[in-house]
Amino acid sequence: MNDRLIIFDTTLRDGEQSPGASMNTAEKLRLATQLEKLGVDVIEAGFPAASEGDFDAVSRIAAKLETTRVAGLARAARGDIDRAWQAVRHARRPRIHTFIATSDIHMQYKLNMSRDEVVSAAADAVAYAHSLTDDVEFSAEDGSRSDRDFLCQVFEAAIAAGATTVNLPDTVGYAVPDEFADLVRYVMAHTPNMGKAVLSVHCHNDLGLATANTLAAIAAGARQAEVTINGIGERAGNTSLEEVVMALHTRHNWLPLDCGIRTVEIHPTSRLVSMLTGIVIQPNKAIVGANAFAHEAGIHQDGVLKNPMTYEIMRPETVGLNRNALVLGKHSGRHALRDRLKSLGYDLSDEELNLVFNRFKELADKKKNVVDEDLEVIVTEGILRTAEIFSLEYLHVTAGTTVMPMASVKLNVNGRERREAAYGNGPIDAVYNCIASLTETDSELLRFTISALTGGTDAQGEVTVRLRENGLVALGKGADPDIITAAAKAYVNGLNRLEYLKTHPATTSGV
Ligand code: KIV
Ligand code: ZN
Repeated sequence: MNDRLIIFDTTLRDGEQSPGASMNTAEKLRLATQLEKLGVDVIEAGFPAASEGDFDAVSRIAAKLETTRVAGLARAARGDIDRAWQAVRHARRPRIHTFIATSDIHMQYKLNMSRDEVVSAAADAVAYAHSLTDDVEFSAEDGSRSDRDFLCQVFEAAIAAGATTVNLPDTVGYAVPDEFADLVRYVMAHTPNMGKAVLSVHCHNDLGLATANTLAAIAAGARQAEVTINGIGERAGNTSLEEVVMALHTRHNWLPLDCGIRTVEIHPTSRLVSMLTGIVIQPNKAIVGANAFAHEAGIHQDGVLKNPMTYEIMRPETVGLNRNALVLGKHSGRHALRDRLKSLGYDLSDEELNLVFNRFKELADKKKNVVDEDLEVIVTEGILRTAEIFSLEYLHVTAGTTVMPMASVKLNVNGRERREAAYGNGPIDAVYNCIASLTETDSELLRFTISALTGGTDAQGEVTVRLRENGLVALGKGADPDIITAAAKAYVNGLNRLEYLKTHPATTSGV
């Protein structure tokens, strides 16, 4: 058994299935580039048969990445496999990931197929994928609730047909660590040709056990972990990359396994995912939450000052926190900005740099120190969201204890400038009334949250909204030193994401 763990990141596929977490192609490319910098081994870039948008994003990611394997998901059907192959074939290291359910309940009610039919569908799909590429992964969906011997039979057939990785998913998050580890050991011992493939695990977090199950499975012999950044994913999410990686890093004495992750990129990647998807990170989230390294109790603070290891099992620097040693201010020039952006992973064209530089100067006039988080927001809002149909041009509000809150707003709607003024029961309500009228949309505001992007009284306010229109749900995010402007940007961003969903319908739903 080797001592290298393969990290398979599915943030762009299973993670993007989180409610409201859609990303446009530019955003997906940016995230894929950051995942490569983080050092993941495989990026599952999407499900090409699901929609044209997914196909396009997977193809572009495949063409762009230099070292990382790029996987495309496909059901066990030739049409899906052809689509996945067309999308990933330009990758330096392409992978086709095909799957079919193996639990009795899925086979009976969802697939309406017998066990024999499932075995032959799995073998056919893998053989066909293998005729296109040497790197084929097969997943037994709902594997943790499947009959053990049948699971071994399917894996044996898949490996015989050419699968180089077989994946055991806990699709519904039902497993518990001891039992899951036992299943891994059983499958390894009872699948005769298992020595020819890597055994992978893919856990969901419905019982809050995804990381524990993944670690138990690795300790039992699995050598690929399927994970997402911040643990985002379907329902309660997937196993979180940062938790598995830092558990292995911190407890190397317990499980001496290595992986290729550059841990200092964990925090920047986590922030990027939150910014692009609009999914807020809970403050007490392990490794990447705002409180993960905050010591509140006096006794703890005293201990940490004397020796950090009294209460800190990991150093914040190890996961890329406290990297703001270098701050930019209003006297910083274009060169310093370009360098800083480059170190954050943004290689901008001259035109893009000009745009970012102008926004940076505007911000530096309002805020003394411009830190990495501020720059990330500028790039996300200014560069990655360019193809949007609504953009905020101007906003003015009057509000206070004795006046009726009123707003006037100018928006660019599909290239045309439009203005509106409206009252509301607060300044944000007034702004939102203007925006709804200008965009002629009728979305329901399901959630509105506001927080500070960094510390300090001059920090930018960061607003997240969750919108629903005609059954479609989208998240929107905006940041600005002025919280009403941040709220307006978040609303406009959410409406743009809804428009994107309207124009990029999934031909098949996620998995
Ligand atoms: O949860 C699951 O079973 C999946 C498979 C497609 C791997 O996401
Ligand atoms: Zn999944």
